[in-house]
Amino acid sequence: MTSDILAILKANDDTLSGEALSARLGVTRVTIWKHIQKLREYGYAIEATPKGYRLDDSFDVISPWEFPGRSDRIQYFPEVDSTMDVARDLARKGCPAYTAAAAGRQRKGRGRLDRRWDSTDGGLYFTVVVRPDLPPVLGYRVNFCASLTLAGILRERFDVPARVKWPNDILVGEKKLAGLLSEMETRSDMISFINIGIGINVNNDPTVAEPSAVSLSRIKGAPVCRKTVLSGFLDAFQERMEADDLSTIIDEWKEYALTIGRRVRVATVNEVYEGRAVDVDESGALILETGEGLRKVVHGDCFHQPYMEGNK
Ligand code: BTN
Repeated sequence: MTSDILAILKANDDTLSGEALSARLGVTRVTIWKHIQKLREYGYAIEATPKGYRLDDSFDVISPWEFPGRSDRIQYFPEVDSTMDVARDLARKGCPAYTAAAAGRQRKGRGRLDRRWDSTDGGLYFTVVVRPDLPPVLGYRVNFCASLTLAGILRERFDVPARVKWPNDILVGEKKLAGLLSEMETRSDMISFINIGIGINVNNDPTVAEPSAVSLSRIKGAPVCRKTVLSGFLDAFQERMEADDLSTIIDEWKEYALTIGRRVRVATVNEVYEGRAVDVDESGALILETGEGLRKVVHGDCFHQPYMEGNK
């Protein structure tokens, strides 16, 4: 019913009376009103006057009805604690692969290494459930595929020179545009699901919480349609995941990596490593050249050191 009302409103530029809508759909005007309220909660700007209803704007709405062909696999929440929690529940209950939980805001958005992810209005926050046919030890390939796919969509669809930073950030220049977080659960030595959580600075201002971050709207100089970003990513990601076993993903990822060749500092919960990043190996680990020889770092937060004389 909600989608029927939305379709009628979208097809009409004029105001439609509640009476006309209720007669057309065979329900009471109160029922129409309830569905109009629901659409507003999803973010549709619907004007209500004594004459009836008119849809003013749906440019930046991320509702299931904006994703034809995948509407049954999009769950949108105006506000949640974290889409990671929602997606974990969905995955444990057996939702289909490539179900995505998206939110307008997150009260407790999470970043890697237990950091907070600032999740104010205008950003794109979602977690997609992946059920790859891979052993757990190869699960890291899914993360690299996700960041590479996202960087590709940003370059191809939005003409933004997005690159990847180890392990999974998207940078434009030296500024962070998006971050990825993953959670995996296994069953009987097989991956049950990997949930990829992505936060993209789209129309929000991330510099309040993180001065070295940037948003897509800032780069483009105009508001950007979040559903175009989300549908572009989900379509390309699913296509790539279903096409092969990702055995070449690290080599492809390295072509767009900003990290290799840079002096970096990598912080884990307990340690800090410094050196020159010389490679990302087959297992996704960062190889650092340090004063004491080569060191393999399997996880952590990587900070690129500024370019300086003798620092490349
Ligand atoms: C990072 O760079 O530290 C990763 C950030 C990941 C943020 C996203 S926003 C959607 C999903 N829900 C969360 O709570 N976190 C991820």
